[in-house]
Amino acid sequence: MKKFQTVIEPFIIKSVDPIRMTSEKERIVALEKAKYNLFKIPAHMILIDLLTDSGTGAMSSEQWAAIMRGDESYAGSASFDRLEKTVKELFGFKHVIPAHQGRAAERILFSTICKKGDIVPNNTHFDTTRANVESQGATAIDLVIPEGLDPSNTHHFKGNMDIIKLEELIKNNKDSIPVCLLTITNNSGGGQPVSMENIRAVRTLLDKYGIPLYLDACRFAENAYFIKLREPQYKDVSVKDIVLEMMSLAEGCTISAKKDGLVNIGGLLCTNNDSLAKKEKDLLILTEGYPTYGGLAGRDLDAMAVGLTEVIDEDYLEYRIAQAKYLGEHLISLGYNTIQPPGGHAIYIDAKSTLDHIPSLEFPGHALAVEFYKTGGIRSCEIGSVMFGTNDTDTGKEIPAKMELLRLALPRRTHTQSHIDYVLEVAKDIIDRKNNIRGLKIIDQPKALRHFSASFELL
Ligand code: F0G
Repeated sequence: MKKFQTVIEPFIIKSVDPIRMTSEKERIVALEKAKYNLFKIPAHMILIDLLTDSGTGAMSSEQWAAIMRGDESYAGSASFDRLEKTVKELFGFKHVIPAHQGRAAERILFSTICKKGDIVPNNTHFDTTRANVESQGATAIDLVIPEGLDPSNTHHFKGNMDIIKLEELIKNNKDSIPVCLLTITNNSGGGQPVSMENIRAVRTLLDKYGIPLYLDACRFAENAYFIKLREPQYKDVSVKDIVLEMMSLAEGCTISAKKDGLVNIGGLLCTNNDSLAKKEKDLLILTEGYPTYGGLAGRDLDAMAVGLTEVIDEDYLEYRIAQAKYLGEHLISLGYNTIQPPGGHAIYIDAKSTLDHIPSLEFPGHALAVEFYKTGGIRSCEIGSVMFGTNDTDTGKEIPAKMELLRLALPRRTHTQSHIDYVLEVAKDIIDRKNNIRGLKIIDQPKALRHFSASFELL
């Protein structure tokens, strides 16, 4: 046991961005103006922004220095060489293809590997991953273990794939599964990790049927750290070696570097498959750019190369996971129900049971998001019936989502302990008067992805 138990931020602050407290009156006006859609609130009116952990983290001095080293040559940039060398060393894949962000890598992978009528299994597809599978005319199927769908279950690897269901699916659709994915960590399931044992079991099963495994590895370092903490045989293995072992079980990966790449923009597509890589690079040229920049500036590639090496630092990961755990455990002690155990990059409040007086179709997750903003200037993101509810095209009736969650996502290296304590103080104020919180109704919405632009009215 360590002598001192306080987990500190393993960095000092050298450059700061001011944030401004607003009055509740100002925030009510901002909410009314934004028609209760938090995406429409200007960032300068937000005090603590927990909308996403994607591209919102802080870069290090080494990353900013790397930005100055960026080689902006159209072809054969030295920045690409540095990125390629780093990625090959960390992940071991043969081909490294840069892309401007995760969904660009996804589009290129699925456009080259999938066709109409295909089926793509995953523990849980993130929404852009699902959309990119579906845009090929293929079907995206989620096969996370049942524990992964039970918010209060404390299983250590709730992102695991259900191997039995996967084998059943493969047996019934032998020739129409071109690829199987595993999302590490499982964002849509609460930022929950996948065990090495499960990744290996998926790979062994896929080998039997000749199906390649790809990792949606946006949060690969957080997943590796959970493996170190929770899978006993990895307790003395370095995160660096765990990352390499995870990747060695896959044929390739897609990555949004806006998460564990510690950059504000960037993505990667990696593969060991030579002929696929060729097709992918041809497509990349068509839509993203030449394969030595992939839609990014040379400086972005350099920042990514440095970020990927910094993120596997175990002091950083200890602090990162401790911050989420601190927020999660204190919310529970205040009376919130959350997805358990705390995930890697965010805490997901189960708004349905926390605000049990608000029916799903009055959007309890969104009502709570509005309340966090109104009370304390904190922006969060509903992941429930606003985001995933659907309209029955025959009856026009609204169908609620499976869960009504509110995600408090933690940007990397950005918020201090007192910021988190402030969030908790606001959370306490809200839960003490939770029965007065009102639901909302949608008064205007687009056909798709309505959470970004719908307008609401308080009930
Ligand atoms: N896969 C996962 C698991 C993700 O969480 C995301 C993005 C993507 C793919 C797409 O990456 O945004 O770079 O195109 N998740 C963000 C979020 C947007 O807020 O969770 P992208």
